Parts: sequence; C-alpha cells; structure tokens
Amino acid sequence: MAVGLDIGTTSIKAALGEITYGQEVNILGVCQASSTGLRRGNIIDIENTANSIAECLHELQRLTGVEVYNAVVGFSSADILSINNRAVIAVGNPGSEILPEDKERVLKSAQNIPLPPDKIVVQKVEKQYIVDGYEGVKDPIGMIGSRLEAEVSVIVAKTAAVQNLYRSAERINLRIDRCIYNQLLAAETVLLPAEKEIGVLLIDIGGGTTKISFFEKGSFVHTVVLPVGGEYITRDLAIILKTSFDEALRIKEQYGVASPFFVEEGITVKIKNIQGNGTREVSVRTIAEIIQARILEIMELIQAQMESLGLMCKIPGGIVIVGGEALLPGMVEVIEECLGFPVRIGIPENVRGISGDFSVPQNASAVGAVAWAAKNMLLAHDGNNYARFNRLFDKLGYFVKDLFS
Ligand SMILES: Nc1ncnc2c1ncn2[C@@H]1O[C@H](COP(=O)(O)OP(=O)(O)OP(=O)(O)O)[C@@H](O)[C@H]1O
Ligand SMILES: [Mg+2]
Repeated sequence: MAVGLDIGTTSIKAALGEITYGQEVNILGVCQASSTGLRRGNIIDIENTANSIAECLHELQRLTGVEVYNAVVGFSSADILSINNRAVIAVGNPGSEILPEDKERVLKSAQNIPLPPDKIVVQKVEKQYIVDGYEGVKDPIGMIGSRLEAEVSVIVAKTAAVQNLYRSAERINLRIDRCIYNQLLAAETVLLPAEKEIGVLLIDIGGGTTKISFFEKGSFVHTVVLPVGGEYITRDLAIILKTSFDEALRIKEQYGVASPFFVEEGITVKIKNIQGNGTREVSVRTIAEIIQARILEIMELIQAQMESLGLMCKIPGGIVIVGGEALLPGMVEVIEECLGFPVRIGIPENVRGISGDFSVPQNASAVGAVAWAAKNMLLAHDGNNYARFNRLFDKLGYFVKDLFS
C-alpha cells in the first residue's frame, strides 16, 4: 500500500493504492479537501494546512477502510527552480568496473551546488551519465571505464517552504516518506515514455500557480513555477462581474469556457450580486471573454519562459496539461492556438481501479505519487534492495536534512 498526497493552493488531493509485484498499481481511493493554509503554493498557515490534510486523509480512510500513517507528498511553490549541473570523477579502479560507490560519488559532486541558506535541494534527477566520453548512459554501474561524468537536474525550493510542510504533517502525526516536487509525480502517470524521449512540456494550471516542466531523452530537464493560476481568473471575474469570489468560482466552474469562440450567442446566466441579495443576467459570452483575457496573459508568460529556455523547437511530443484549469472547455484549443503545439489533457494512466470521476487532471500528482512509490519500491525489490528502500523511507521521517537522499 502507498498513499500519495498533493498539497495544492485550492485543494489537497490524496490517493491510496495497492502495490503488487508485476502488476499495475491498483488505486483503492482518491479524494480531495479544500485547502485553506496556502497562498500561491506556499504554506502561510501551518494549523490550517494541517487541518486540511487531516480532513483529506480522514476522507481517504473512510473511503478505503485503511488507516493512513505515512505518505509520499507532492508540493510546489512559486519559489521552486531547477538548476542543471554536471560533475566528473575518476573511477576508483581505472579501467575496471564502475561500482555503486563511484555512482554515488559523482552524483554527490553533481548536486553540490552553492546555495544561499534559505534554499534547499529537494530533488536531484539523473539525466544521463557519460562513461569515457560515451553519452546517453542511464545507469553506469557494471560498465567499464575510467572517467565517469553525471548530468543532473537539481530542484531547489525555499528551506522554509519545505520545513513548513514537515511542520504541518507533524501536527497530525503524518510521516512524510518523501517530499517531491509535484510535477515529477504527475509525470509518472500522465506522460508516455515516447513523449518523454522526444521532448514534451507538462503544464499544470492549478489554483494558485502554473508550473511548466520540460522532459527530454527520457528524463526531466527544466521547470519553472509562475505565481498565477485559476484564482487569478476567478478574482477577475468577481471584480468585473461585481460579485463575490465564491459566486465567481461557481460561475467559472459551471459556465466558464476558455474562449468566446466556443459559446453560442444569446445565452445568459443569473449571477448573485456582491451582497448576495439580488441577481443579474450576464451573457456566457461576456464570461468567456473575461476568462480568455486571463488565459492569454498566462499563455504569454508561459511562452516567454519557453523562449528563454530555448524550447520553441524542442517539443515534438507536444504539450500535456494537468491541474483544475485544464477542465475549462476549449482550453486545449486555446493553448494550441497560443503556443503552436499539439495539446492533450493529462489524466492519470498506467494505474487501474480509478473510476471516471477521479480520472481528472487535478488528481495527476496524488495518483502519480502512488505510482512513484510503486516504481521505487519495485526497483528496490528487483535489485534485492527492498530492505534498504524501506530503511530509506524510515530514515526520511521528519528530518529535512535527509531530503538529499
Ligand atoms: N470544472 C472546472 N472548470 C474550470 N475550472 C475548474 C474546474 N474545476 C476546478 N477548476 C479550477 O481549478 C483550480 C484548482 O485546480 P487544482 O486543484 O489543480 O489547483 P491546486 O493544486 O489546489 O493549486 P496549485 O497547484 O496552484 O497549488 C481552481 O482555480 C478551480 O476553480
Ligand atoms: Mg496543484
């Protein structure tokens, strides 16, 4: 069994799955609860975050009948960034076999990036190894060579953001098995190996943030987090339509469309005024125009990032979108039009047991966390390393410094 949690700005999502050797992960339950302690992906209230997580996990326990004590936790915050780095070492025994110690040594050296004290490495992703000049090696152990190079991508977050996450979990006695940037978790379940090989962009448009990650040659390469998301659209609807945030949210989720192009003329909906004591008729076209304007702004920000990362001619695998805003009808077409690449919605795949209602783009990271746990447990199993893997999970408990493992 493994539990995946995704700590979002608007909601916490949780998934519980059964892991059996040689079989697809069997998802036994998925649920979500409102998140009240975050702003733009950052925890700003530990008590409220802890309560939101507890509410979500109680629901998961009620659904599955399984008690939850620990979870793989996905998170993101507006301060996350990725740094590419490489390191080279001389293999212990020149001309002989590369041992696990050599791999560990070169990886340690590659993630050794000088950071200010308020920043911490939360993940290192191995991109490739180069053995005596031969590129593209995924695992160098057992190969013969004298010079071992590693290329890694390191994900860096604010130390306080990670500590606040651990603090929130501690409040409710939840043990964090691993704390992972949630785009890496979503990628586990929505991206196809072929897409990751040729170059694909994963875009998560959540409530408080928009995250974009580029994958190529089978691995993660870059990520950027933008401090805007669906709440930006909702807030603008509320201001322009002179209504409350909650009413604007209802209108967006029930009648919202990503572009007026998809709206029939003449359709109107009733909107409560800000005091909640009267209603007004507003055309669905006007609502779509407001939403589209904000989406175009978010797309401009994404395009600027893609240009600065040099991605405009590097994503033959196209774009996969996740996050709640992917549910807006017409979103795929609008993004295709703005960014000029084929777009599809990423829903959790390569797992079974997940019913239609939960097979939605905002559950990608929570379900992906279970898939991530399964992959790592089974890898450890394959390498007769199961006990070591379990020890690793134990050790990671509450200690932020151990995140480097
Ligand atoms: N059916 C829908 N149509 C349009 N928007 C929707 C719909 N359902 C949810 N949303 C929007 O999706 C957003 C929430 O998405 P999601 O759950 O992915 O965000 P989050 O993970 O809580 O936030 P973040 O990832 O930014 O920290 C909200 O802005 C919400 O209004
Ligand atoms: Mg999210």
